[in-house]
Amino acid sequence: MLQEKIKKIESLEELQELYASVFGKNGTMTMRLKDMKNLSNDERAELNRENTELRELFKSRQTKIENTVLNAALAGQKLDVSLNAEPKNRGTIHPLTQSLYEISKILESFGYTRHTGPEIEDDWHNFTALNTPSYHPARDMQDTFFLPNGNVMRTQTSAIQVRTMETQGVPIKMFGIGSTYRKEMDATHGPMFGQIEGLYIDKDITLSDLVGDIRAFLKRFFNLDNVDLRIRPSYFPFTEPSIEVDMKWNGEKWLEIMGAGMVHPNVLRNCGVDPDKYQGFAFGFGWDRLAMLKYNLPDLRDLYGNDIRWLKSCGF
Ligand code: PHE
Repeated sequence: MLQEKIKKIESLEELQELYASVFGKNGTMTMRLKDMKNLSNDERAELNRENTELRELFKSRQTKIENTVLNAALAGQKLDVSLNAEPKNRGTIHPLTQSLYEISKILESFGYTRHTGPEIEDDWHNFTALNTPSYHPARDMQDTFFLPNGNVMRTQTSAIQVRTMETQGVPIKMFGIGSTYRKEMDATHGPMFGQIEGLYIDKDITLSDLVGDIRAFLKRFFNLDNVDLRIRPSYFPFTEPSIEVDMKWNGEKWLEIMGAGMVHPNVLRNCGVDPDKYQGFAFGFGWDRLAMLKYNLPDLRDLYGNDIRWLKSCGF
């Protein structure tokens, strides 16, 4: 039966063919409609009904086939947004830079402002203004790289403190940050290392303010509730008294963390500050050494090696 046949057709072409054979110029239905005048009223009504039914059947079959074709096409192109994307290797921030950011953030939150200076320094800013004139034996404490014109590769970021005090005067609360250079090389020293030095000068700054800030800083940086500190007397030409600060590491070893002290009156004078009115402290440490401790790294030189395999093995 024609109706059954239509319902079984799966392709538009076949449907088209069958349609033409029914409704085309010489199609079966076309012919029957032409003969209508010979039919009785009942037969006409029946033929009309059949005509309408067939047209509707073709139409609905066509829609059905078209939908099936469309759905099949869509299924082929389906985009699964829940699939994991291929991981992209973006790289990460170098551990030294990370610790630099952290240290700066902490000191800035204490009210210290950040400063930098030249890595090639003149004798005045690196030594003489820091109470270390050319005849001073303390120059030997730092194995210096001298340049032919008498300048030096900066041996300490204290030079930045001198520059900042000279230009900004006091009161001042700042830290200098940058690379420093000395002729030394072993597992905990390299010829270039990162230093940070803080300076706080005002009318009534004392050594206990210094210890308070250092303690607060170390607690924040190492994320500790408490730190055990040991204050040892030391010597630096630019501080008097001078101290060295050790920190108890993992509850067992004492580690030397930084040098510090009350700024020597000669240094204040050299920077145009009256030591009878102002006083304050300075502290300095290697920020790469702090990074080594924080990230548990055995050899400082690795930090500067830029060996991608080493960086990956550390999880950076
Ligand atoms: N500049 C000293 C050094 O490089 C560290 C230091 C800074 C000590 C400030 C005391 C005060 O060893």
